[in-house]
Amino acid sequence: MPASSSLYEPIATDLEKVCAVFDDELFSDLPIVNELCAHLRHYRGKMLRPGLLLLSARACGKVTDEHLALAAIVELIHMATLVHDDVLDEADVRRRGPTIHRLEGNEAAVLLGDYLFSHAFHLCSSLDSQYASRILGATTNTVCEGELHQVHHRGDLNLSQEQYLEIITRKTASLIGTCCRVGAHFAGADERVAATLEQYGLSFGIAFQITDDVLDITGNEDRMGKSLGRDLQKRKLTLPLIHSLAKSPPETQRRLRKLLTTEEPDRSTVCQILGETDSVSFALATARKYVETATTALEVLPPSDARDALRRMATLVSEREQ
Ligand code: IPE
Ligand code: IPE
Ligand code: MG
Ligand code: MG
Repeated sequence: MPASSSLYEPIATDLEKVCAVFDDELFSDLPIVNELCAHLRHYRGKMLRPGLLLLSARACGKVTDEHLALAAIVELIHMATLVHDDVLDEADVRRRGPTIHRLEGNEAAVLLGDYLFSHAFHLCSSLDSQYASRILGATTNTVCEGELHQVHHRGDLNLSQEQYLEIITRKTASLIGTCCRVGAHFAGADERVAATLEQYGLSFGIAFQITDDVLDITGNEDRMGKSLGRDLQKRKLTLPLIHSLAKSPPETQRRLRKLLTTEEPDRSTVCQILGETDSVSFALATARKYVETATTALEVLPPSDARDALRRMATLVSEREQ
């Protein structure tokens, strides 16, 4: 679902305004800071989080100026995590271009990530209500906890499915859930509806990360527009591998364990082993289950174009190639 996707039709003009808020927020009187931020402007991503926030708002009422600020805030937070994540993963490519740390070095990338986080909360302070800063602060805490949890388990070949789900719920799904919750809340939805939309976002986010993790092993770098194979190289166990390690006969398990401890595990050999245990199919079927849970949550909403778009976006998650 690229940013130009027809799914965003109900919110296309709002999304353009969000980009303007985003750029204004990052404007600095220091030219060297603007030069660094210009890299970010050169590559927009899928704008998934602002898109979900605005569609949740539309599905529950009207998009307001508060939503435009909130949508820019969640994209600032997301981009902060990406800039830092690429340093951790030593990734070369992001959004079809070189990563910030490849262009400017690790020091500038770490500081730019901090700068993005800082601007997110600076922009948040412009909102009258404290609801957003409280919930977004709690969410970034959760995201960081997820990332710390993941780093702690790097190289742990005994990671369980439950531990994996805990990690991805925190690092990825929590922010997506919050996008949907605040979109609904600021459009006047009551707590029951806002909480149900948060559940939609959480299930969406879990399915999204499971698929991303599958694509890290099986995907095409040109289509994805980012470096792949990083989870394998960094020894981050993901669902297909956890399943394969649990289901394969002892000899295959030994081969896989050995492969996962080599310097640069070969993606096609990993794929071949995963094929023997149907582990990619298992992971994608698991993602589809979360998609189903997400779409069921939407029944709380009255029919609308925005609700249809939310449903279609969820169904596309388990089929995504970028
Ligand atoms: C990438 O998120 C990080 C994950 C949670 C897998 P996106 O796939 O939404 O990244 P962009 O914003 O489109 O680049
Ligand atoms: C990162 O997960 C999720 C974040 C919260 C930053 P990944 O490491 O799988 O994201 P990509 O694949 O680099 O986009
Ligand atoms: Mg990464
Ligand atoms: Mg990934």
